Amino acid sequence: MPVVNFRKTDFLPAQEQGSALQKKLIITVDGPAASGKGTLAKKLADRLGYAYLDTGALYRAVAMATLEIGGDPGYMQDVAPALDIICRNLTPELLSNPSLRTPEVSQAASKVAAHPQVRQALLQYQRDFAHKPPGLVGGAVLDGRDIGTVVCPDADIKFFITASVEERAKRRYAELCDARTDMTFETVLDDLKTRDQRDATRAVAPTLAAEDAYILDTTGLNPAETLEEAISIIRARFLSETNDNGGAQPANGKPTATAV
Ligand code: CDP
Repeated sequence: MPVVNFRKTDFLPAQEQGSALQKKLIITVDGPAASGKGTLAKKLADRLGYAYLDTGALYRAVAMATLEIGGDPGYMQDVAPALDIICRNLTPELLSNPSLRTPEVSQAASKVAAHPQVRQALLQYQRDFAHKPPGLVGGAVLDGRDIGTVVCPDADIKFFITASVEERAKRRYAELCDARTDMTFETVLDDLKTRDQRDATRAVAPTLAAEDAYILDTTGLNPAETLEEAISIIRARFLSETNDNGGAQPANGKPTATAV
């Protein structure tokens, strides 16, 4: 394999290197609950100076609004008024409200996300964000369940993040313990399994790795290690496209990123 000299300017932080701004890549990060996709997506966006969208927050916002008006998230008739309100008020403040992260809202989000009308109503917002990211940034990083398959099938780089269900439950349990003490590990594990099952088996846009996604198993990896793995895949992929040097290839679960 030819020796690759990665050009340092290509993927250094935007604050340090203007060239990363010109790339305008769309990067998608999908995966099941608490897999570490949000952490990776945020860190990637930070590192590259890109805009970041947590698409789960969109579904969570619709779910919370449904619960607030006393509706049942499983019934589209109840969800419709909440969806209407949220679609007219999608602001960064709304999407970063910590109340969106409660276990009740998580379960309700997974129920509202199964309605095709909800997914359709939120689709354009996500696509616009990916193609015209807000602010003076280069590209965009979006995380969710169907970003590489449905929202941005044309994305430049796609990741699918996995980890064992026990590891994911441990991470979510630790997060939740900071906020409340009435949750047991078993409840968190059960909630996670229920939500994963619902998300993976719904008829519309189920959780799925795109065929051209790099699959990263983060079991036993810390956030910094996961970020470095992803960055090395992006570098190798970028170089393989520009130099045809046979760098990283998505290989249905076996990314073969070349260390550079
Ligand atoms: O952070 P966590 O992985 O637990 O959840 P999230 O990404 O905030 O997503 C909350 C719920 O929204 C998921 O359980 C999915 O049902 C739904 N969702 C979706 O259907 N499609 C997306 N692109 C993102 C989230």
